[in-house]
Amino acid sequence: MTHNIHLIAAARPNFMKIAPLYHALQGQDWCNVSIIHTGQHYDANMSDDIFADLMLPEPHFHLGVGGGTHATQVGKVMMAYEEICLDIERPDLLIVVGDVNSTAACAQVATKLHIKVAHLEAGLRSGDRLMPEEINRLVTDAICDYLWTPSPDADENLRNEGHPDSRIIRVGNIMMDSFELLSSKINSENAPAKYGLENQDYGVVTLHRPSNVDDPALLKTLIDGLVENSKKIKLIFAVHPRTKNNLEKNNLWNDIQGLDDLILIEPISYVPFMSLVKSAKLIITDSGGIQEETTYLDIPCLTLRDNTERPITITEGTNKLVKPHELSGNVDDVLAENWVHGTKPKNWDGHTADRIRDIIKDLFKI
Ligand code: UD1
Repeated sequence: MTHNIHLIAAARPNFMKIAPLYHALQGQDWCNVSIIHTGQHYDANMSDDIFADLMLPEPHFHLGVGGGTHATQVGKVMMAYEEICLDIERPDLLIVVGDVNSTAACAQVATKLHIKVAHLEAGLRSGDRLMPEEINRLVTDAICDYLWTPSPDADENLRNEGHPDSRIIRVGNIMMDSFELLSSKINSENAPAKYGLENQDYGVVTLHRPSNVDDPALLKTLIDGLVENSKKIKLIFAVHPRTKNNLEKNNLWNDIQGLDDLILIEPISYVPFMSLVKSAKLIITDSGGIQEETTYLDIPCLTLRDNTERPITITEGTNKLVKPHELSGNVDDVLAENWVHGTKPKNWDGHTADRIRDIIKDLFKI
């Protein structure tokens, strides 16, 4: 008997989480795995290029929801995914990843149709309910049948919320599987040279959190900080569409054009991006995934946020939460080699997808 498994892919950070799973499941004679792209991210450089890098096929179903307010996006995803489950292909297991709007939306659709749902990257908590992702994490974990976690802090958060141990399984960090899967391509990419950068002689910047980029005054402070620090070490800034829109709206975009030391680029695909990260001296970011990737690669990561749902990247890794006015001092510290090296957390080993495949076989009694 073949079991239908759905993998939900919605936004950029999801793609590197579903790819290793797809590759581990595809070709197994006991399952039929389908990728459902909700279309939350739709630009080629936020979606198609990354699919290609990760050797993923065209999505089996594309919901094409696009942007919009949270309610619009969640509503559209729920309606479209419900139609797939009811009329086209009912899965025996839905796997949702991460914390984006589509994660919570699809989990709700499936649980109400009595379809079993697993959440990969369960249990992460920033404790900050002003973050839309925190609401998505809470909602998703509350209703999922299986909670697959990356780290002990996640297990503990779930237990504290009353989830029984039987539902919680520590599987490790799936992002590291993607990195290992593509490591030879990443190693031969040499992205820094394409931007005129030399190994260890530049920093990489990404910023897209509403809490950083939606407030014009804070956005200006952050941009001023980047310009100031770029005089100490060249910075390459991959500008997310939300950030670019806000920079343009607040007349800041023109101010940062043509600077020699602050190189602005469009979002780039997974392989060139990881090639840039791998050889960087430091990273400045508010991303979730990059906090983990830098811990894995032992690269200093200055996270411009008040909190993180990934505390293990601080306690064991190379991450540090930094307030905007602390950025300059922290950049100085890194340049003076005054930073703490980390260790790779347990089970961040490139084999998470294999462990999950075995867990699913057990669930289906294969
Ligand atoms: C979403 C996720 C966030 C994740 C981020 C990664 C939620 C609540 N947020 O936030 O967790 O870290 O993706 O990038 O699910 N846009 C484009 N092209 C695209 C995608 C978006 O132009 O391919 C535009 C949208 O129209 C919108 C803005 O960028 O104006 C923000 O996009 P949106 O997906 O709403 O939220 P993100 O900030 O990307």
